[in-house]
Order: sequence, then C-alpha cells, then structure tokens
Amino acid sequence: MAVMVPFLSFILIFSLVSVGNSLSSNYYEKTCPHLESIVAQAVKKATASDNTAPAALLRMHFHDCFVRGCDASVLLNSKVKHKAEKDGPPNISLHAFYVIDNAKREVEDSCPGVVSCADILALAARDAVFLSGGPYWDVPKGRKDGRVSKASESFQLPAQTFNISQLQKNFAQRGLSLEDLVALSGGHTLGFSHCSSFRNRIQNFDAKHDVDPSLNPSFAAKLKSICPVKNTPKNAGSTMDTSATTFDNTYYKLILQGKVLFSSDQALLTTPETKNLVSKFAASEGAFYRAFVKSMIKMSSLNGGQEVRRDCRAVN
Ligand code: HEM
Repeated sequence: MAVMVPFLSFILIFSLVSVGNSLSSNYYEKTCPHLESIVAQAVKKATASDNTAPAALLRMHFHDCFVRGCDASVLLNSKVKHKAEKDGPPNISLHAFYVIDNAKREVEDSCPGVVSCADILALAARDAVFLSGGPYWDVPKGRKDGRVSKASESFQLPAQTFNISQLQKNFAQRGLSLEDLVALSGGHTLGFSHCSSFRNRIQNFDAKHDVDPSLNPSFAAKLKSICPVKNTPKNAGSTMDTSATTFDNTYYKLILQGKVLFSSDQALLTTPETKNLVSKFAASEGAFYRAFVKSMIKMSSLNGGQEVRRDCRAVN
C-alpha cells in the first residue's frame, strides 16, 4: 500500500510555546535551525522504501515515554552482561531503529553534540503520523537522554491483555487520563501485529470460550486462519486496521464492530466514558485528531534524562 499524501486541510498546527519542565518549540532555534527538516527528510526517505517505518517510529516513541519518561532509553543497546529495555519482551518487535540512527548522523553533521536522541524520536513520531495522512503539530523540544535502560523495566508498559481498570491505572501512573488512553490507542490505526500478540483471544480464551466472545465471529475466523494452531509462520499476523498505512479514524469504527486485535482495544467499550469517546472519534476524524495531538504532546512531555547522547545506541 502506498503511503497517503496528507491533505493540507487536515493539517492541525498546535503551537505551544512551552510544555512541561523546560520544553519549548524554539529550543534549537539558534543551535540547530535545520533540525526539523533533517529529521523529516530521514523519515520520508525511510518510508519511501519501507512503508512499515512510520508505525514503528510511533510505537517506539510511546514505548520510550512510558519507561523512565521520553529519554531515549529504548534506543540503548544491550551490553554483554546487561540487557537493555530494547531486548525486553514487549520491545522485541520494535524495529526501524536505523531511521533514528540516520537522522542522528545527519543532525550531528550539522550541529554536533546539541540535539538529544529523545527529541529526534519525538520529532520522528510526529513526522511518521503526518506522512501517513494524520495531523501535524508543533513538537516541544529540549528533552535529555537517559543513562539507564533495563530490560526488566519494559514490563512497565501496558499489556494487550489488560482490562480497562488496568489500563487506566497504568496511564494514570504517568499523569495520563482516560481520554488520553482512548486518543493514544488510536495509534493502532497504523501498523501490524504478530499472531502471538492476539492469540489469547482466538484460542483457549477462557474456561467457557475458545474464542473471545467480544470478537466479531467472521473476524475471529479470519484471524484463526492467519494464525493456525500449528506451524504458524514466525512473521504471520494481521494489520492493525483495514487501512494500516493511513492515519485515520478507522480503528474506532472497527472497535464498535468487534474487529480490533487486542483485549486492550476492545476494553475501550467497557466504561461509559471511554465508550462515548470511541463513538465520538469514530464519528469525527477531526475530533480524533485534536484529541490525539493533545495527548501526544502530553505523553511526549513526560520527563526524561540528563545528557545529549553522541550515539543514540550508547551512553556518552
Ligand atoms: C494502550 C495500551 C497499548 C497496548 C497494550 C499496546 C500493545 C501493542 C501490541 C501488542 C502491538 C503488536 C506488537 C507485535 O505483535 O508486533 C502493538 C503495536 C503497535 N502499537 Fe500499541 N499498544 C498500546 C498503546 C499504543 C500507543 C499509545 C501507541 C502510539 C501512540 C501505539 C502504537 C502502536 C503501533 C503504531 C503499533 C504497530 C507497530 C508496527 O507495525 O511496527 N500503541 N501495540
């Protein structure tokens, strides 16, 4: 599928002068004036030959921010006797790290030692959404990179088997509301999931049901055929929604039909507040975009690290 060219009418620009601690829109105005175009070019170039890159970058930023704040801890490589976050189970399927490496290399050529990897990742996630036809927003910058990354901490990420109270608690621990949960889950309009991530819903679901009864039966049958009990190919799986390279509100329409992959997606229908938001976003792409941008800025302003890393894969 080709990546959709974004329509200008859908561009939402949210100009924030300052968010959170010391983040600001013009943080690199003097020290690295071409930063944003360098990162945008790197994302665009990668996407031209790999249309899975935007989804990967958006997810990578979320996984970064939810563990130790947005501090690029997810980018650090493991060492011989130390397993980094990247190699924790929920992060094994992260990919497209090369896009951040390429962007960082170009940024270092223009403005050495100034721009954090965490800021590059936050910009790349925004560019990934925009390139996929979604909204544009002004990213507050000035994050620092962290020096700690532990595989064990990757379990702080929410699991796809979570119910709504587990999801609510996990998000609240980061100062994020139920509205943020519903809006940010809209990231599942992009990308792909492996069978292992939703197999629990199509096989031995619980004592009474083989298949999760909240799944649409024909959708469940399709997932079962993609992910057979025996000899499932390692890379088998499903796209997250029916237009998985386009950032749109299809995901919410599919939740209402029981055609989403994870229990955590379907769980958004289980409280009146979250159900109303799902219906609102299914009915109005504009309302989804506005809420998504607001929640992304909130999530991506979670506090992070201490230094500006020279190489995104290793501490200084
Ligand atoms: C609410 C809790 C969430 C849970 C439990 C969750 C879980 C998952 C799981 C299990 C996968 C599939 C991994 C695989 O099998 O390869 C996935 C994929 C993905 N997630 Fe989430 N996620 C959540 C929230 C988010 C948020 C907040 C975003 C971004 C704003 C996001 C963006 C993505 C994207 C873009 C993919 C596709 C990745 C790719 O194609 O490489 N997710 N998620």
